[in-house]
Amino acid sequence: MEIIYKFDIVPTPDQIVKLYNESGLPRPTADKDRIKIMFENSNLIVTAWDNSTLVGVARSITDWAWSCYLADLAVDPNYKKSGIGKKLIDFTREKVGEQVMILLLSVPTAMEYYPKVGFTKEDRAFAIFRTS
Ligand SMILES: CC(C)(COP(=O)(O)OP(=O)(O)OC[C@H]1O[C@@H](n2cnc3c(N)ncnc32)[C@H](O)[C@@H]1OP(=O)(O)O)[C@@H](O)C(=O)NCCC(=O)NCCS
Repeated sequence: MEIIYKFDIVPTPDQIVKLYNESGLPRPTADKDRIKIMFENSNLIVTAWDNSTLVGVARSITDWAWSCYLADLAVDPNYKKSGIGKKLIDFTREKVGEQVMILLLSVPTAMEYYPKVGFTKEDRAFAIFRTS
């Protein structure tokens, strides 16, 4: 199995919805227009492909000089634990460079994952939650 990583591709809403639903990533996949907007307005999208099948996504929003919000990370369950998530994060780190801090919110099941791939747990975070 050869996985190809791409930086210049915005997957279709259908590809994204399929991956997110299968991976269990909680995102508004019932609303494809919202998914489309989420991707159109992101400026760092790393994707992993097995031939023409989308098997992983890291979607980020960054200013390229200080901050990067890693908004979504998902790997197809058939390809889990083969290093794809780590690669997507490594490529994201490489693209933003050393000046940039990468921030994210973890789902409960990934709390043990992020420390393994280079993240430090932070207690200073605050959020204003969306209401719809
Ligand atoms: C969490 C997720 C992105 C991990 O991707 P992955 O490609 O399977 O993970 P990797 O292969 O990069 O794993 C790297 C290491 O973390 C471990 N790991 C993987 N998933 C883990 C988890 N959920 N909890 C703890 N450790 C995990 C792997 O065993 C591996 O350990 P090793 O280096 O000792 O072998 C993927 O399982 C996924 O998409 N999950 C559903 C959606 C999700 O939770 N996304 C994160 C949202 S915040």
